[in-house]
Amino acid sequence: MIIKNLPLKTDPETPITLKKAISANRALAKLNGVAKIIPNSAILINSLVLQEAKDSSEIENIITTHDELFRAGLDVSDITNEAKEVQNYRQALLKGYELVTSNKLLLKKYIIEIQQELEQNDAGVRRQSGTVLKNAATGDVVFTPPQDYETIQELLDNLERYINEENEIDPLINMAIIHYQFESIHPFYDGNGRTGRIINILYLVLKDLLELPILYLSRYIIKNKADYYRLLQEVRTKENWEEWVLYMLDGIEQTSLSTIELIENINLLMQETQAVVKEKLPKLYSKDLIEILFMHPYTKMEFLVNGLGISRQTASKYLKDLQNIGVLESIQIKNSKFFVNTQLFSMLKKGL
Ligand SMILES: Nc1ncnc2c1ncn2[C@@H]1O[C@H](COP(=O)(O)OP(=O)(O)OP(=O)(O)O)[C@@H](O)[C@H]1O
Ligand SMILES: [Mg+2]
Repeated sequence: MIIKNLPLKTDPETPITLKKAISANRALAKLNGVAKIIPNSAILINSLVLQEAKDSSEIENIITTHDELFRAGLDVSDITNEAKEVQNYRQALLKGYELVTSNKLLLKKYIIEIQQELEQNDAGVRRQSGTVLKNAATGDVVFTPPQDYETIQELLDNLERYINEENEIDPLINMAIIHYQFESIHPFYDGNGRTGRIINILYLVLKDLLELPILYLSRYIIKNKADYYRLLQEVRTKENWEEWVLYMLDGIEQTSLSTIELIENINLLMQETQAVVKEKLPKLYSKDLIEILFMHPYTKMEFLVNGLGISRQTASKYLKDLQNIGVLESIQIKNSKFFVNTQLFSMLKKGL
């Protein structure tokens, strides 16, 4: 199967895709604005990146619970392999975000670094033939990506140019094209799906459509998984670009809207928590304290010690007081004690 270089020979902008692109762009722009109501961007990034890491890994059948997920960030030694993989995804995504925002480019070598971080090995671009894509249910080969190292490299160079050079096409439509192309090149032995889903976010950041890395399509893809695979394949077999593009645009729109809702809920909960702490523990209240409680659904004493510059003794008293008024619940894992912001936790668990 020969993969063609970009740009496409046919115009992916049809009346239908353009119309959908308008509403998807509008929802995305609104998300960008709403994200600013949360005072500290780390609050959103932390929770949403973890959620995405969980969902995207789930597409690859790496299943974690929310408990494992949020604990994994806290250096607990007994985390499961699955939680470790989710953690790697998170690191890969944040690394990509850092590379793109500081260099204003999304280069092939960054993509390779991202996959390396994700898979924790340096296999890099495929050199051995034999990688094929199979239908998970029947085991039939649906697609054989390029097998030859030079061909893969050339296609990646072409994709790199397409990503970084300006063109006339709506960037959201471009994102769909780029995702298809990347998955079809399938440059790595493993992790192509997850790396491709990270590239989607980074592309929006690169094009200044997303300031913070907070729009994640994996949950949408999980919900519409059969269509995801079917439409990727139909681009190949039927040149059905229109439906594929619509699918991705709809993902952007729906996810933007549900993320807006989640952010608004987090914001409300922060205000409520602030009011409760102010009223019941006025001596202890500070803006920074509330932010720390929302930065991690699982808090530990060190976060307070470092974030507020207080002694361990004082931090321990704070945590006890916050437990007494019902803002936190404590749990013991092995030798460490953690404090869960229960309402935030259940909000994130319920999800987008
Ligand atoms: N017919 C197809 N054409 C192009 N790409 C496809 C097709 N079917 C699946 N893919 C892509 O291949 C990915 C799977 O590849 P791979 O196993 O290397 O990635 P992964 O990150 O390990 O897995 P996953 O995507 O399941 O999380 C899918 O997520 C999808 O993006
Ligand atoms: Mg895989």
